[in-house]
Amino acid sequence: MQYIIDSADTKAIRRCIEFFPVAGVTTNPTIISREKADFKALIAEIRSIIGPDRMLHIQTTSDVAEDIVKEAEELKKIAGGDFYIKIPVSAEGLKAISILKGKGIKVTATAIFTQQQAMLAALAGADYVAPYINRLDNIVSDGVHVVEEIVELFKKHSISCKVLAASFKNVEQVHKVAMVGCPAVTINPELFDQLIYHPLTLYAVDAFTADWEMVYGDKKILDLLGE
Ligand code: E4P
Repeated sequence: MQYIIDSADTKAIRRCIEFFPVAGVTTNPTIISREKADFKALIAEIRSIIGPDRMLHIQTTSDVAEDIVKEAEELKKIAGGDFYIKIPVSAEGLKAISILKGKGIKVTATAIFTQQQAMLAALAGADYVAPYINRLDNIVSDGVHVVEEIVELFKKHSISCKVLAASFKNVEQVHKVAMVGCPAVTINPELFDQLIYHPLTLYAVDAFTADWEMVYGDKKILDLLGE
């Protein structure tokens, strides 16, 4: 399973890369705008933090196929490394996906809310489809169930496109999409910390430390081995 950072905050990305097993970064126009930064410099900085081998997904701001294709080609040059253009599902978007497929540029079809949007994007040539879990939950449409059915459809029809679930607000949503076989999730940096947080873990570690210190004081194993 792939865990991806849904952020353009370079400080947060740097920290996630240092501590978590991260497969890449996804952005969208909202996430990029939040940084109020020079666009090209921001993309270059994100790439230098994550290195060439991790995925970098950047969303198009155009809505006509030919412009999306041009944007993707230019963005690929700036982003370098393992680059994906994110394209919202629309008729123009599907056309752009199939043109880009022919040009060898990898695509993530985004803003997916239904199983059939995912199917058509996959058949057009998308490498990933990104259904929006929390936004589906907010309209009582069961984001996890939508992901489950997309995963099942791709399996039944031998489609190699992968599901990259997006728009998460809590750990339970992430866990449930993992349980239905979703191969990739993109989550905000705060959620990475929530995924490993448990008060009983902190309690257990405090108890181990207290027991150890009763006998060895503040010396660590490395101090003892060096004596
Ligand atoms: C990622 O690809 C999506 O753009 C993003 O996860 C949407 O998340 P939101 O619903 O929290 O804005």
